[in-house]
Amino acid sequence: MRLTRGREIVMVRFRGVEAMNAETKRKPVRKAVLPAAGLGTRFLPATKAQPKEMLPVVDKPLIQYSVEECVDSGIENIIIVTGRGKHAIEDHFDAAPELENFLERKGKQDQANMVREISDLVRFSYTRQKVPLGLGHAVLEARDMVDEEPFAILLGDVIMTGPEPATRQLIEIYEATGQGVIAVVPVPREQVSLYGIVDTEPPVEHNGRTIYRIRDLVEKPSPEEAPSTLAVVGRYVLPPEIFTYLEHTKPGRGGEIQLTDALRQLAKERGLWAYVWEGKSYDAGDKLGFLQATVELALENPDFGEAFRDWLRSLKP
Ligand code: G1P
Repeated sequence: MRLTRGREIVMVRFRGVEAMNAETKRKPVRKAVLPAAGLGTRFLPATKAQPKEMLPVVDKPLIQYSVEECVDSGIENIIIVTGRGKHAIEDHFDAAPELENFLERKGKQDQANMVREISDLVRFSYTRQKVPLGLGHAVLEARDMVDEEPFAILLGDVIMTGPEPATRQLIEIYEATGQGVIAVVPVPREQVSLYGIVDTEPPVEHNGRTIYRIRDLVEKPSPEEAPSTLAVVGRYVLPPEIFTYLEHTKPGRGGEIQLTDALRQLAKERGLWAYVWEGKSYDAGDKLGFLQATVELALENPDFGEAFRDWLRSLKP
């Protein structure tokens, strides 16, 4: 396989699938959209007066995990779609000169650097979703900022950990195929109604990764209706054409404009792949998932992971 970013010829060869795009003008994936306008109703009362994206998981707010995943994946510009009551997100990623000066005066240079690094991570832009009309509508609000470029979407509720960042893997598949790709994970059939579920063709091996061409998707089906148990987990890399589909997407499940419905059209008309994520993923927008993420990430913490493990072991069953 020869793969050149940007404007040149891209030759793609899948094991078992012949080259798909001989000459394609390819723009690199530089931007990511992080929808953060939701009301966080699954986490009330904690989210009554603070954004769920700012709930701390171990020692940083939930949304910072997605931001760091973007940075580790080569994203240069993050567009956060916020709503009313979400100022804390902008403040968190902004410079905090008073705090930095205070820490420096106290001789806490490490902490001052840590605070400064958060605002230096990447370039941030913000737009607002004025009315909560659904995930698809929130993504559509970022259209002017994304412009005519492929882009990633990361749902900040979901923390994905593994040896390689999930978004970087999706970007590589996008750049090799020239088509959109979304991360999926197998879930127990009784949980399919919590997710978008994909209907796929048989798997194809691609550079040691398993990808599936998507035939169709269903948003939150019942266990009987679900075409598979592969669930959309909150990481997408999509071509800008998704905006045209979103613009024409009518309210679907729950009366909301669903990203999944626009993806159905994209899959049918331009092609879309599913990539089975082999790392871990935690739905930290849900109370149980949040606790699981907190415990597992705390156990991995180099400063106090061991002490935390000992303390957990000491708990009576
Ligand atoms: C959204 C998507 C759904 C996806 C899920 C992943 O649903 O609509 O397709 O499976 O995120 O977390 P939500 O959880 O926002 O209702």
